[in-house]
Amino acid sequence: MLLKDKVAVIYGAGGAIGGAVASAFASEGAELFLTGRELAPVEVVAERVVSAGGSAEAAEVDVLDEWAVDKHLQSMIDKAGRVDISFNAVGIPNARILGVPLVELDVEQFSLPITIYATSYFLTARQAARRMVPKGSGVIMTVTALHSRTGIPLVGGYGPAMAAKEALTRGLSAELAPQGIRVVGLRPQAMPETGTIKDAFEPRAKASGMSWEQWQELLAGRTHPRRLMTLEEMANVAVFVASDKASGMTGTTINLTMGSLDD
Ligand SMILES: NC(=O)c1ccc[n+]([C@@H]2O[C@H](COP(=O)([O-])OP(=O)(O)OC[C@H]3O[C@@H](n4cnc5c(N)ncnc54)[C@H](OP(=O)(O)O)[C@@H]3O)[C@@H](O)[C@H]2O)c1
Repeated sequence: MLLKDKVAVIYGAGGAIGGAVASAFASEGAELFLTGRELAPVEVVAERVVSAGGSAEAAEVDVLDEWAVDKHLQSMIDKAGRVDISFNAVGIPNARILGVPLVELDVEQFSLPITIYATSYFLTARQAARRMVPKGSGVIMTVTALHSRTGIPLVGGYGPAMAAKEALTRGLSAELAPQGIRVVGLRPQAMPETGTIKDAFEPRAKASGMSWEQWQELLAGRTHPRRLMTLEEMANVAVFVASDKASGMTGTTINLTMGSLDD
């Protein structure tokens, strides 16, 4: 069990990535504190983990409310004694940010993903770091997308938002790694089983006269194995990164695009 005796908090745990990472962490022995903007979807994930024999508690936490993040972490420390892993899987609906050419994009719509993604990661990371520094260990993780490193049309401020998170991963690591804390991001290719990707791409597929299946084939054709990654594969990497086996890894975002994006 790679995460035996590890205590993990996951933000956005009711979402596709948060839920998959929760199941993978629990199956490797982690004690989980799962949070989300709304309680109901997080409770579904917590119940799934517990019925599979794992340990999980669900709570409602808005990551943009630093007081709420702080209060939840404190209650977690009171119960479990520490936080070893902080995983931010928060995402905002793509419908709010995609589809408008940059030259026509409203400045607020442009800024929205940059502000929300960067602020959410900043707040959850620093609150976790404040608990990790005194014990001299911990892992802070998040998720980005290949838009951080390559130009893709009609994604508005999403690319700059992903680039900001990857820069923050490097900055956090530069400050925290000397104190024993690793900071590592994951950059997966689109995982078509997630609602996020279907919502984002199905309208674009239709607009290009393609079916959803044809669109997936187009994306898959850009990867070396000619297929897209599964949530389970991404979550397996998350387990390794969160574990002590990855003790040599910090200040980086792992390229999980299966060859779509060169380093
Ligand atoms: N899905 C993919 O294939 C893929 C690939 C590469 C990168 N990513 C990135 O990975 C992240 C997560 O993706 P996903 O597919 O798991 O998205 P998702 O299923 O929409 O999950 C995101 C979760 O974040 C929660 N959330 C939003 N605002 C919040 C807030 N203020 N406080 C707490 N929780 C909040 C959402 O809750 P509500 O539902 O209540 O809003 C939702 O449960 C995104 O940044 C996405 O861009 C995804």
